[in-house]
Amino acid sequence: MITVNHVSKTYLQGETQIHALSDVSLQIDPGETVAIIGTSGSGKSTLMSLMAGLDSPESGSIHFNETNITQLSEKELSQFRAENIGIVFQQFHLMPHLTAMENVMLPMELTGKSDPESTAKKLLDQVGLSHRLHHRPHELSGGECQRVAIARATSVKPKLLLADEPSGNLDFETGKIVMDVIFDQVNGGDMTLVLVTHDRELANRCSRTIEIKGGRV
Ligand SMILES: Nc1ncnc2c1ncn2[C@@H]1O[C@H](COP(=O)(O)OP(=O)(O)O)[C@@H](O)[C@H]1O
Ligand SMILES: [Mg+2]
Repeated sequence: MITVNHVSKTYLQGETQIHALSDVSLQIDPGETVAIIGTSGSGKSTLMSLMAGLDSPESGSIHFNETNITQLSEKELSQFRAENIGIVFQQFHLMPHLTAMENVMLPMELTGKSDPESTAKKLLDQVGLSHRLHHRPHELSGGECQRVAIARATSVKPKLLLADEPSGNLDFETGKIVMDVIFDQVNGGDMTLVLVTHDRELANRCSRTIEIKGGRV
């Protein structure tokens, strides 16, 4: 499903070059659940944002099935991402002025899906938030915000779900609930999951673990 081929990414911090990823190659097959582990600063989020097409590498290529996403224009990329990839971040990234329902409906509206309202309602019910439909993010707890973010990320039934430390901002118990919700959605929707985590026990729930050290797999 995803082929990362000899990808390198360097950030420029003033005069200093930071080699975030060096010659990374890996392949992720449809239906896999893959954990990416590694210490802070090892390049996990950089790899995720490249696979999501949120940033581009300076060398190498990334294919999503037959599509070389490193060759798409900004506009093509955002359309491609909206239709194929769901993303869940540590910091939720919900739209602050929109309600839970409106946040979940947004990707479906952007991609012209039919009946976003009933799908959003169904999804929020599945993640246990049927009593929070009209709350805005500041009226929700961290765990509730992340469940809205998961419902939003899966609303267009993406083939791939990318989750970057989705429980990283939550207490242990809430984090467990959020991870259960993610695995339920992935299993129920036949999605492929790539999950960044610090937590080896959580990584063990995935079918495969990839470790990154100093920008190398
Ligand atoms: N936008 C950026 N500008 C400069 N350096 C960055 C930027 N993003 C990440 N880095 C650096 O790249 C390296 C990898 O970062 P990151 O992928 O966020 O690691 P991780 O997610 O594993 O903690 C780190 O040394 C980090 O400081
Ligand atoms: Mg990170």
